[in-house]
Amino acid sequence: MSKKTISGSMQVAIEGCCHGMLNNIYRNIPKSVELLIICGDFQAIRNQGDLKCIAVPEKYLKMGDFADYYTGRKKAPVFTIFIGGNHEASNYLEELKYGGFVAPNIYYLGETGVLWYKGIRIVGWSGIYNKENFMKMRENAHVPFNRSTIRSVYHYRKDDYLKLRLLKQCNSSVVLSHDWPHEIHEYGNRDYLLKKKPFFKSDMEKGELGSPANSALLRHLKPRHWFSAHLHVRFLAKVAWNSPKRQSVDGSEAITSKKLKLDANNDDELDLGLDDCIDERIQNSVNNEKDSEGMTSNHECNADEIDLELSDSEITSSKDAVNCKVNNSEKKEDTAENENEIQLDLSEDESEGKEIRTETTTILNPTEFLALDKCLPRRRFLEILQIEKTVSSRGTHPFYLDPEYIAVLKVVNKHKDLIERLNYEQVLEPTELIHEVQQEIDEHVAEYRQLNDEDYDRLFKIDFNGFSKTANIHDRGAQLYKNSQTTTFVEKFGL
Ligand SMILES: [Fe+2]
Repeated sequence: MSKKTISGSMQVAIEGCCHGMLNNIYRNIPKSVELLIICGDFQAIRNQGDLKCIAVPEKYLKMGDFADYYTGRKKAPVFTIFIGGNHEASNYLEELKYGGFVAPNIYYLGETGVLWYKGIRIVGWSGIYNKENFMKMRENAHVPFNRSTIRSVYHYRKDDYLKLRLLKQCNSSVVLSHDWPHEIHEYGNRDYLLKKKPFFKSDMEKGELGSPANSALLRHLKPRHWFSAHLHVRFLAKVAWNSPKRQSVDGSEAITSKKLKLDANNDDELDLGLDDCIDERIQNSVNNEKDSEGMTSNHECNADEIDLELSDSEITSSKDAVNCKVNNSEKKEDTAENENEIQLDLSEDESEGKEIRTETTTILNPTEFLALDKCLPRRRFLEILQIEKTVSSRGTHPFYLDPEYIAVLKVVNKHKDLIERLNYEQVLEPTELIHEVQQEIDEHVAEYRQLNDEDYDRLFKIDFNGFSKTANIHDRGAQLYKNSQTTTFVEKFGL
């Protein structure tokens, strides 16, 4: 087994809701960007049949830009990964439920998925939270959809959740969700958010803003970055995992102190000292948006019925809508493999022969949350970040499936009966389930670790030429096509 060491970082563009406006998004991406991430409402509409599979008010039913990328008339100028939201051509996404290319250079992450792109680990899921449907198991969708299934198809389910919740904590990863984690607004500039979206107040007061499944995932995975969309506003937050506890609505910790204190005897005293940086970003966000257009319609938060606010006016390419924030301040060069392990050398002067005491503690990076707006003029829908690569990454190809995720996926699929019996609390905090299945997951992971390079690539490498066209752009009926990318995936992993 060989490991390739990857260090450094790369520029990644993050986009909020796409709503079929790929041309405008791509026009705004600088050449230095190596990856574009789109956080849902992508609308991969190939033909009139796909338009029958998307849940949007009739006045918003438009083909959008995607068909040109599907047919090859245009090519995505930057490699693009996206998750699904609540306004999608759900028949096409169902074809590729385990992920796959929807067009050359444009990759759908799947209902859930974990990908490695050039040394960055991307964990994500598609859809939004709905309490009732969350407790139902994921089933194959049937097309044509009826008035009910056209909506329930994009509600993520408890088995979807567990495919991510059973992963180990991944403090250096990037996580994508369309809707926000529940109460993430408590970790950013809440007043600013309310100023931009006053109608969020009632949901905030009722504790109903955001998804509890996402906040439970956030608490467990503790990723480096979390990107979302859906609520059509740019918002920053930071959740620190080592700071003194201040308040804890969802069990995580808030940011309180200002400087790094190294006290090996008290983890709670550790503070990463990044507050000023993020505060400045939030302030920048406020300043930058002073001239932006205000709220334009009445919304119900966290509902499927969020108004798309799709202006009838033509979208213009507006460079000023892009927040190019290349943040090098936290870049670490030549980090050791175990990057979060910090040696706290508490030794006295060695030359005086006194006892040397060295202790190790784990410092977790805070999670930086960023939600972005939809692609409209004067909206903050795009942001460029410099994202650190994970130090050790297997394989020499730029694009891979994640072996731990595949292990979890196999185990969750195998234990559907057990998962079906779990109640809400047992799903969100699956202690008993972990007790039952962790060994099986570990065995799969160990088996994958033993693979030689050739076998590893055969199993996990994602072929950039994997796109295969299914629907014809002239098809008019709602159809679910068989996609060879899905067939191959299912056969390969015995699902
Ligand atoms: Fe949405």
